[in-house]
Amino acid sequence: MSLPPVGVFILGARGSVGACVALGTSGLRSGRFDATGLVTAREPFARVPLVDPSNLVLGGMDVRRGTLRDSALAISRQGIVGPDVVEAEMESLEEIDGRIVPGFLDAPDVELAQPEEVHPETLASRSVPPSEVVSRTGKAIELFQARAAVKTVVVVNLASTEAARPSPARWSELSSFEHDLAAGAPIPVSTLYAYAAIQAGCPYVNFTPSLGASPGALDALARARGVPHAGCDGKTGETLVKTALAPMFRDRNLQVLAWEGYNLLGNADGKTLSDPAHKAAKLLNKDEALRRVLGDRPDLHTRVGIEYVPSLGDWKTAWDFIHFRGFLGTRMTLQFTWTGSDSALAAPLVLDLVRLAELSCRRGESGAMAHAAAFFKSPLGTSERDFHRQNQRLEEYARAASE
Ligand SMILES: NC(=O)c1ccc[n+]([C@@H]2O[C@H](COP(=O)([O-])OP(=O)(O)OC[C@H]3O[C@@H](n4cnc5c(N)ncnc54)[C@H](O)[C@@H]3O)[C@@H](O)[C@H]2O)c1
Repeated sequence: MSLPPVGVFILGARGSVGACVALGTSGLRSGRFDATGLVTAREPFARVPLVDPSNLVLGGMDVRRGTLRDSALAISRQGIVGPDVVEAEMESLEEIDGRIVPGFLDAPDVELAQPEEVHPETLASRSVPPSEVVSRTGKAIELFQARAAVKTVVVVNLASTEAARPSPARWSELSSFEHDLAAGAPIPVSTLYAYAAIQAGCPYVNFTPSLGASPGALDALARARGVPHAGCDGKTGETLVKTALAPMFRDRNLQVLAWEGYNLLGNADGKTLSDPAHKAAKLLNKDEALRRVLGDRPDLHTRVGIEYVPSLGDWKTAWDFIHFRGFLGTRMTLQFTWTGSDSALAAPLVLDLVRLAELSCRRGESGAMAHAAAFFKSPLGTSERDFHRQNQRLEEYARAASE
């Protein structure tokens, strides 16, 4: 069955992951790349009616100056793809760039932003009230939908991680959240974007640790509007390995005493995370997954470090040291190192999530997509953090959704 094209409105469209998603979709279309890395390209997804990744029309928002071409060239300077690939896909990149409009800065980022790096229209809209951010974002999505000539638009948050802020308990209710929105209370821009997307009837994916659609109010809105949503924080590297390995210790009844993880990264995401307020959101998600699998024992020592090492660029290295106790009280260790291109690992998962969110919407599902938990560090709608069980649930969903 051939499905009509689907629009993908990316928040943070000119970032590293955004550029890899753009290069990936146009490269899949031209046949330059195969589907390695896409979960939905393997069994049991072959018989599931999913939109073809080459049939996605990209666009979105960003707050930075510069072009998608600049971002793609930066990706090639990191050795992720050759400069010839960027040259060959240039026309498609420029076309996508024409559908990227200026976004809105999150309030704590206004002071940190370097005016010479920020788009002038973003700078000019620094102090617009939250309700205006929602309405302008809604209009931008509508305009994109018309320009891209698509019926369905999936909104994906790939913007820089925001400074961590707690979600007030009152935001579990839609009416209280909407009261705060109308009153101009401070609300993270990721949540304003999510609200605008869901209000516009668009499936929404939060690939970042930012708040996005996590408050209960947004889930209530999604259910009322008949819209599916998924998040938070893509599980691409160290946490993926952790949530695959931790169940092994649990299932062999080996007692983990300590799990110390250390991440070094040098890309723009790493730079953002070098600020303590921005780092806090990421650390919480990375540590939480392990405790959920192993049990939150007071004697279990876990810690995650993230350090910005500019020379590494997009190549993230994680070193994990696991100290555990076996029979006879014997103490042993396991260590692993993981070196991956963060953005090349993330991009195919973004395409998977777009395909699954569009399918969910077509199937009339709404609210948190718990079946997509395997893609996230802090999945919404389920407390399951064991990668194998999450994957099993996803495959069961795929079999049920098969034609
Ligand atoms: N790469 C991975 O493996 C991975 C895994 C999990 C989560 N993430 C998350 O995905 C996001 C993107 O990562 P990246 O490496 O592409 O980062 P990046 O810094 O290269 O790109 C982020 C983009 O977002 C833009 N942006 C910032 N604030 C914005 C706003 N308010 N509205 C619109 N655009 C805004 C920036 O200008 C930039 O172009 C980050 O939040 C990161 O933590 C990445």
